Amino acid sequence: MCGIIGYIGTQRAAPLIIDGLKNLEYRGYDSAGIAVLQTSELFVKKDTGKIAEVFSEKDLETIEGNIGIAHSRWATHGGVTKENSHPHLSNDGNTAVVHNGIIENYQELRKFLTENGFVFKSQTDTEVIPNLIQYFMQQGTSFMDSIKLAVKKLEGSYALAIINKNAKKLVAIRKESPLVIGVADHGYFVASDVPSFLDQTKKVVYLYENDMAVLNDKMEFFNIKDNLPVVRKIDNIEWNVEQAKKGNFEHFMLKEISEQADAIKLAISQDEKQIKEVADAIMHAKGIYFVACGTSYHACLSASYKFAKLANKHVNVALASEFPNYKDFIVPDSLVIALSQSGETADVLEAVKAAKEKGARVISLVNVVGSSLTRYSDETLMQNAGPEICVLATKSYTSQLAILTLLAYALAGKYEEGKNKLKELVNSIYYLTSTNTREHIKQLAERLRYVNHIYLIGRDLQYPTAMEAALKIKEVSYIHAEGFAGGELKHGTIALIEPGTPCIVFTSSENEKKILSNATELKARGAYIIGVGPNNNELFDFFIKVRESGEANSICQIIPIQILAYQLAILRGCDPDKPRNLAKSVTVK
Ligand code: F6R
Repeated sequence: MCGIIGYIGTQRAAPLIIDGLKNLEYRGYDSAGIAVLQTSELFVKKDTGKIAEVFSEKDLETIEGNIGIAHSRWATHGGVTKENSHPHLSNDGNTAVVHNGIIENYQELRKFLTENGFVFKSQTDTEVIPNLIQYFMQQGTSFMDSIKLAVKKLEGSYALAIINKNAKKLVAIRKESPLVIGVADHGYFVASDVPSFLDQTKKVVYLYENDMAVLNDKMEFFNIKDNLPVVRKIDNIEWNVEQAKKGNFEHFMLKEISEQADAIKLAISQDEKQIKEVADAIMHAKGIYFVACGTSYHACLSASYKFAKLANKHVNVALASEFPNYKDFIVPDSLVIALSQSGETADVLEAVKAAKEKGARVISLVNVVGSSLTRYSDETLMQNAGPEICVLATKSYTSQLAILTLLAYALAGKYEEGKNKLKELVNSIYYLTSTNTREHIKQLAERLRYVNHIYLIGRDLQYPTAMEAALKIKEVSYIHAEGFAGGELKHGTIALIEPGTPCIVFTSSENEKKILSNATELKARGAYIIGVGPNNNELFDFFIKVRESGEANSICQIIPIQILAYQLAILRGCDPDKPRNLAKSVTVK
């Protein structure tokens, strides 16, 4: 999704904001741009392409000015063109705006402004914002009041950073789209995400819904709805710059895959009291709904099996974007458990808001401190998995699974047993992420690098694993992959199996016979069978051993396939950290 960064202070803004923009690259983007306030004008440079292509070393050294905003765009309204890149300027060139989010009524506003003589240079929804500000300023209203009037006209979601040629200030506004202020010794930053400015400061102020921050030599906060001042506190970021950098790893994806043993250790050092309280809430709720998207949704599916198996508890699982279909069943005694590593996924926030309107209690499981979901929830369990920069969810997924496993054990009244079980996993995970395992899986990646399709099957808890493993393979290597329940393939998809079609089969001691019987059906059609599980078998053409760990199989068995997906991406020349068309925080519906 789009990334925003702005700076105001005593240093040159351009190198700081271009650097900050690079730190936001992981969010996904297709164009980039900056606007910097110079003595008598706004200097603007923007284009499509990578940040390093849009800005040269010379730009970093020569663009003067201490106030600036920058943006990396992930196209929504209008194609990937220079004109559609941000910042967008008002017609008089005095105001520059960068925006993340969607202005739903932009067509209406565009019509109104066009009727008032404004001309639009882009197809974006954003361009109405600087022009609305100009419209109000032309009526004699001050810059600040014009911003407030303009924002009142906007419907939709927006994180905005705004500067004006004649104002020595940087204005930031947040509504349903993340924005955080960085407080450095030499000035203030505003950004979509903390890693953007983490090498400059670890002091942050998280903006709340409808907050407007006015930054110059001090910072002030207002609520844009009632225009009243609000107080926001400075928080300290606990993780360090190194955690948000690649270190000795070639890619964040590999680094984060390798951090999973530590992420599990952190997950199990959860506050016991809080886990037990959430388990109690699950026990007493009338209707439990797990809600999430993508990988987090697979964690929910996995949880539904764990809750059923360990605690004899039925929970409903819904894709957040489909949650409106359940709305009529939500009552004040319902419990919605929302999972989102970013805490910013628009579909999840929408689902949670709908649940709250019905009076339901909302508990969330989130990795990013200060994210929107933490504010919409009655209670939040923090994953503490550390920053995950690669677009693909890896350690955040296994950390979600670890916490959900702990929760299922707590619900069954066996918290300690669950904790010990997870502790025992740590060594297996170190082994699964070791160079030895990686070398072994590399042989498989070499074998599969040119295939067009991979099918994955699993039964019970291995079914969500098959789905998640398929997602990992396709989103990073662009090989078509599909995960199925073992018993389901014969109901249609088996028609696609040809001699040599690779099929990954996840096994466990509990369902070995049944899943091997499904693997036999595939083998009979000539499939190349890759077994992942505790025991090798003559059916397998390739085998990846993963020690049996019962309900925790879901945590260990996904790891070899994360590694496979990474290696396939490398062999096929894909960028594992920034897959095409994808974004780390999906802040649009
Ligand atoms: C896949 C992936 C996505 C996210 C999904 C939800 O690797 O990362 O499928 O899981 O966009 O994101 P969160 O968990 O931030 O709500």
